[in-house]
Amino acid sequence: MPSTIGNEIIKLQTIESTNNYATAKMYAENWQEGTIVQAEYQTWGRGQVGNRWESEAGKNLLCSILLKPSFLPIQNQFLLSKVVSLALWQTLSGELNDVTIKWPNDLYAGNRKIAGILIENAVMGTKIESSIVGIGLNINQEIFLSGAPNPISLAIKKKQYYDVDAVRNQLVDFMNEWYARLFNGQTKYIDNQYAEKLYRRNEFKPYRDQDGEFTGMIKGVNAIGQLQIVDRSGKIRQYHFKEVEFIYEQP
Ligand code: BTN
Repeated sequence: MPSTIGNEIIKLQTIESTNNYATAKMYAENWQEGTIVQAEYQTWGRGQVGNRWESEAGKNLLCSILLKPSFLPIQNQFLLSKVVSLALWQTLSGELNDVTIKWPNDLYAGNRKIAGILIENAVMGTKIESSIVGIGLNINQEIFLSGAPNPISLAIKKKQYYDVDAVRNQLVDFMNEWYARLFNGQTKYIDNQYAEKLYRRNEFKPYRDQDGEFTGMIKGVNAIGQLQIVDRSGKIRQYHFKEVEFIYEQP
């Protein structure tokens, strides 16, 4: 059985990045699986593909969870992304009714991004030895400055402030449920739930790939986590991260 997530929570004021901190400390101090490091503010919050993650001090959830999913073969690593996305989806859906998962693992409220995930795995042979699951969830921030294209927060959506630790506790409960499903091999269920919650699923929308713009309909992801889009001719196109761009229509 995996250890319970959230038994140990290390709270910090200001840190470069909770992912960096967790990576550096976990070996040095032999952290237990499930340990969480949470910060009020990051001076170098990291997003996907080298982007920065903007978050005003004290307003949002910034945390990294240490997992040791040695039961998960490396070729199934996208399942971990799926269960983290689903735990976030469930947390947010307690408050909002328009939450979806934008492939591969952004959480959207309507057409705007409310949370992001940065998972960093250490691989040993064919297994994932440890995984730092970084989560940034916009809770109370009302103004975003960084020029990120479409951020939003719970407070903007609901016109109320939230207790950040209460939202974290909710997320931790759902993470424990979803991680147990992963450990128990409930792969089909995880796959189906993830596919069902995808942003723009089953709707014809505009996309751009290396051959240009096209209209297509997201159907799901394949076993290695590639996005599957069926185009107007019925052909299924499959993409790795960053190989396809979602084109946004003007509101
Ligand atoms: C993304 O680009 O969507 C991923 C954002 C991940 C941000 C979180 S905030 C806590 C953790 N520490 C980091 O430096 N990044 C992640």
